[in-house]
Amino acid sequence: VTVASPGLVSDLAAVVGASHVLDDPDLKAAYETDWTRRFSGAARVVVRPADTAQVAGVLRVCHAARVPIVPQGGNTGLVGGSVPRDGEVVLSLARLSELEPVDELAGELTAGAGVTLAALQAHAAERGFAFGVDLAARDSATIGGMVATNAGGIHVLRYGSMRAQVVGIEAVLADGRVVRRLPGLVKDNTGYDLPALLAGSEGTLGVVTRVRLRLVPSLPARVVAVLAVHDTAAALTVFARLRARVASLEAAEVFYAEGLELVVAHTGATRPFATAHPAYLLVECAAHADPTDDLVAALEDADVVDAAVATDRGGREQLWRLREAHTEAINAAGVPHKLDVTVPLSRLAELERRVREVVAEADARARVVLFGHLGDGNLHVNVLDVPAEDDTVDVAVLRLVADLGGSISAEHGIGTAKAAFLHLTRDDADIAVMTAIKHALDPHTLLNPGVLLASRHP
Ligand code: FAD
Ligand code: MLT
Ligand code: ZN
Repeated sequence: VTVASPGLVSDLAAVVGASHVLDDPDLKAAYETDWTRRFSGAARVVVRPADTAQVAGVLRVCHAARVPIVPQGGNTGLVGGSVPRDGEVVLSLARLSELEPVDELAGELTAGAGVTLAALQAHAAERGFAFGVDLAARDSATIGGMVATNAGGIHVLRYGSMRAQVVGIEAVLADGRVVRRLPGLVKDNTGYDLPALLAGSEGTLGVVTRVRLRLVPSLPARVVAVLAVHDTAAALTVFARLRARVASLEAAEVFYAEGLELVVAHTGATRPFATAHPAYLLVECAAHADPTDDLVAALEDADVVDAAVATDRGGREQLWRLREAHTEAINAAGVPHKLDVTVPLSRLAELERRVREVVAEADARARVVLFGHLGDGNLHVNVLDVPAEDDTVDVAVLRLVADLGGSISAEHGIGTAKAAFLHLTRDDADIAVMTAIKHALDPHTLLNPGVLLASRHP
């Protein structure tokens, strides 16, 4: 049990109020274990500031005492970066939940770091807008956490990932200084792009407190199709055809027979087809006018074995649930090793085939469940039935990805889970530049130690 020094607790309480400094083990518990249950550690205390000034105050106190901090939003991150390792202060941004009015002229919005994705989506919808990033953790994931991880999700092929939505940012540095770039200017070439740098920095360079985001038009006419295909190669051929012919294509996701079985068993969902198929491609098209005819025309003569199509909201949600429920169905089956990887599209079919082989060779007990964002070349390799602390399978998969010219993280980040493997897809010069940036902004390594740049390898 980590005990907070009385001086630290009272200094933090002076900034945020005593009721927002949690040192009771029962109250801290929810902040100390991650969503997958694979990563956990003790927090010295959990601090819950209400606004940017309080975040700055907390960081000044911690800086003076040289106490490390783990920023936390919705704690839905999947790489162990959002929970303490060794008695850090957990800085929860959940109370920074202010949503400013939609700027309808600019099509932009400023949101506090603690605003959930679902709250932001609902707020934008009231003014006829949508947000370009969507993901299944929408009810809990926060805008600050999504910027910090540069979250991807299911619409990247149309709108890009989180970094592409960021117009401006406000963040607090390790010593409590505030960097603020929130004027909402579409064009602003005044030096280094600090908002872009903070996006994907995983809480290691600054604490994001507010974000200016671009919105996209709300597209009410939608069609979702789950297409049964022979294999990944066929799914890719169908996807390439749709991307070339259907301008309204918004999502192209893949899952496989083993994942569908797990989802059906866990959720009781109805199977989309009478018989099982090796692979499934889920596509969604969205436009102002019904895009169904465009999709159907583009699929004519395509290498598709069967298709389930829905245009009504309920039917679309049922089909999406088959894909989105993979994460919770896998979690219910055990504590997974989650390897979020990407390779060039031309190597994706090879990855899907070989990853099953290398996992089986690395650990005969392992059970593999694959799914992911096919259009982005991003496969989520989930491995069940291996011990949480045993990285043998992780090493085998990440080495394969490196051999195929890919990246060891597509969208979840490096966190603590992959810090030891950074060198597999980033060379020495690259890591040296990132280390220099980290040192310039956080010379005492107080912000999220152990995450991203923690381990150096030859
Ligand atoms: P946390 O989990 O709290 O934190 C994540 C990281 O960001 C940590 O390193 C933390 O220290 C840092 N951080 C948090 N807030 C701040 C802040 N304000 N300032 C600085 N650093 C901060 N991810 C995807 O990319 N695509 C998906 O499709 C996707 N789907 C998911 C589905 C499910 C069911 C679940 C459980 C997770 C999914 N994720 C996905 C992962 C996760 O939702 C994202 O990584 C999300 O961006 C994390 O947001 P959060 O607020 O929960 O952050
Ligand atoms: C997803 O695409 O569903 C997420 O990234 C979550 C996961 O990988 O489990
Ligand atoms: Zn994903």
